[in-house]
Amino acid sequence: MRVDFNVPIKDGVITDDRRIRMALPSINSVLNRGGTLTLMSHLGRPSGDGFEEAFSLSPVAKRLGELLGKEVICSDEDTTSEIVLIENLRFSDGEKNGDAAFAKNLAEKGDIYCNDAFGTAHRNHASMVAVPEAMAGKPRVAGLLLAKELKYLDEAITTAKKPFVAVLGGAKVSDKMGAIENLLGKVDTILIGGAMAYTFLSSSGEQIGSSLLEQNRIEDALRIIAAADESPTSLLFPTDHVCAKEIKEGSEIQTVVGSIPDGWMGLDIGPETSDRYAEVVRNAKTIVWNGPMGVFEMYPFDAGTRIIAEAIATATDAGATSIVGGGDSAAAIASFSLDSKMTHISTGGGASLQMLEGNAFFSVSKLDDSV
Ligand code: 3PG
Ligand code: MG
Repeated sequence: MRVDFNVPIKDGVITDDRRIRMALPSINSVLNRGGTLTLMSHLGRPSGDGFEEAFSLSPVAKRLGELLGKEVICSDEDTTSEIVLIENLRFSDGEKNGDAAFAKNLAEKGDIYCNDAFGTAHRNHASMVAVPEAMAGKPRVAGLLLAKELKYLDEAITTAKKPFVAVLGGAKVSDKMGAIENLLGKVDTILIGGAMAYTFLSSSGEQIGSSLLEQNRIEDALRIIAAADESPTSLLFPTDHVCAKEIKEGSEIQTVVGSIPDGWMGLDIGPETSDRYAEVVRNAKTIVWNGPMGVFEMYPFDAGTRIIAEAIATATDAGATSIVGGGDSAAAIASFSLDSKMTHISTGGGASLQMLEGNAFFSVSKLDDSV
């Protein structure tokens, strides 16, 4: 079973075990039927030259054992225990290279292949593609988490109740352009926040001070703004900004409407924008959210993200469907303790974004099920 146990670990301690807990239904489903389980995952981005302590899956095996109330062995050699977690697949560069010999070795460990690694679905690595290929003729199935994630994200986009609103933020505009282009014409409104807004604002001739700018994306930004003008979708940008001279707690801040002065950078959407966006969100019936509105990890630049998260929670309470992409947006929701208020929080950041871009997963096409 390929899982995504790529969890944050600080000084050997797992700081968020959500990806492990979300894999439990598939794991228990195998164990409850008397199966033995070989689990495989990557963790972080090691060099690919062999074992590195900092990227060992041992703490994950321990945590999974606690959650299951059973021993979980972290080993590449053990073939007799009920539950074995193979060490970090990325200790070999065969994983990233999709190496056939590396895959064959893994394929020999199982009678059934199960992919439950939604968070890794957008990577065509050996364990995701070459292993199911090497197991042709044996059952190759989608795990319960993978199936659930695909269903939610697919339905959110294809059968969304209107008004349908997408909230897109985060630092890099280059990460989100594909999603914006795909969502034009599909959603009623796209709300843009985060540092990615500044490339758009700069392309329209706004003064953005020293805010983050992706100069080589200015033309793409202009093209997207023009496409939005032609489409029924409203593409909205921040009109005020919480600015500072540096990203530091306690640094002097000012709220700026319109042009940002030289030397200042926008680090959060301002109160006017937050109110305007929150109003749109509260009236929505379907909301997809990927990427924070500002530097939510740092007071006072968390306010915009928090107001939007609360508006999504309110809309969800009133019957809307809310789908939150993994990564930073999931972390933001958790830091505001609003997890239980969302319809679905994805375990995938890059993977959920790829679904918003309208792209199918090659890894999923290798499975027998029509998920
Ligand atoms: C993730 O957390 O993004 C997935 O586990 C994939 O990891 P990667 O971005 O290092 O490929
Ligand atoms: Mg990633």
